[in-house]
Amino acid sequence: MRHLLSTEGLRREQAEALLDTAAGMEQALTGRAVRKLPTLRGRTVVTLFYENSTRTRVSFEVAGKWMSADTINVSASASSVSKGESLRDTAATLGAVGADCLVVRHPASGAPHRIAAWLDRVGHSHLGRDGHVAVVNAGDGTHEHPTQALLDAATLRRRLGRVEGAHVAVVGDVLHSRVARSNAHLLATLGARVTLVSPPTLLPVGVETWPVTVSHDLDATLAQGPDAVMMLRVQAERMHGAFFPSAREYAVRFGLSQQRADHLPDHAVVLHPGPAVRGMEIASSVADSDRAAIAEQVTAGVHVRMAVLYHLLAGEDVA
Ligand code: CP
Repeated sequence: MRHLLSTEGLRREQAEALLDTAAGMEQALTGRAVRKLPTLRGRTVVTLFYENSTRTRVSFEVAGKWMSADTINVSASASSVSKGESLRDTAATLGAVGADCLVVRHPASGAPHRIAAWLDRVGHSHLGRDGHVAVVNAGDGTHEHPTQALLDAATLRRRLGRVEGAHVAVVGDVLHSRVARSNAHLLATLGARVTLVSPPTLLPVGVETWPVTVSHDLDATLAQGPDAVMMLRVQAERMHGAFFPSAREYAVRFGLSQQRADHLPDHAVVLHPGPAVRGMEIASSVADSDRAAIAEQVTAGVHVRMAVLYHLLAGEDVA
């Protein structure tokens, strides 16, 4: 694996190797007073974010630091991007200063793929390395967020003991959700059954080609007793005035209320990638309940991102 750009096309053995490594990272760090492995000493990981982030950016930084990599954060607003420097020149510059890995978040779908293609062509062998700069997609527009899907799968493994055969309902604003697309592909690859539950106005063109079932009726889907319910954030900033009728109607029809959560099977787990809009997508009492794995998802994110950096930078290919 040279880059991690999407879960679509990720083979099952690759995904399982990453999840197994993440579990190994968790085990290796459990109980240690100092959470530091020497694995990536001398390697440099740069996070390049053109959109805001709390979880993804910080957990990549923590993941790198816990494996002794040098980590550098670049936010577009505080870089020469604000002077008009192009994406291509910015990526080439970061490669030329010695980045071994670029972790990229960008509002344009496909931006990390373009960066990977450019850097593969340019190379930086004059730095004394093999010239390869690995690129990780940390969320591109409405397209994909592969490490989020991997951490969600890691959380399902911890909570349910399996992903294979699990029924996962993914609920909400699928149209703008890179999390939904990455999860649809990864969960199907791992043998789960996925139901997308969304208003018709918040479904993307082409969803019929995804490996999922689509429903517009949350209560009917919950009545099937899913093993997991993944609530999606309503992405008001990407709506451009095309918001589903009203926040109140959305909450009534598609919000995970306490009453709805009370009817889930005892073992069912509630996920949310965060940041959550409490009171609309999910009731506060549900988000704070033992059934919800929101904080566990964040912790799993560190282990999964350690695994991704390990496989990309430590020379250990996945399957
Ligand atoms: N889930 C997620 O991507 O969160 P951030 O935007 O805080 O990184």
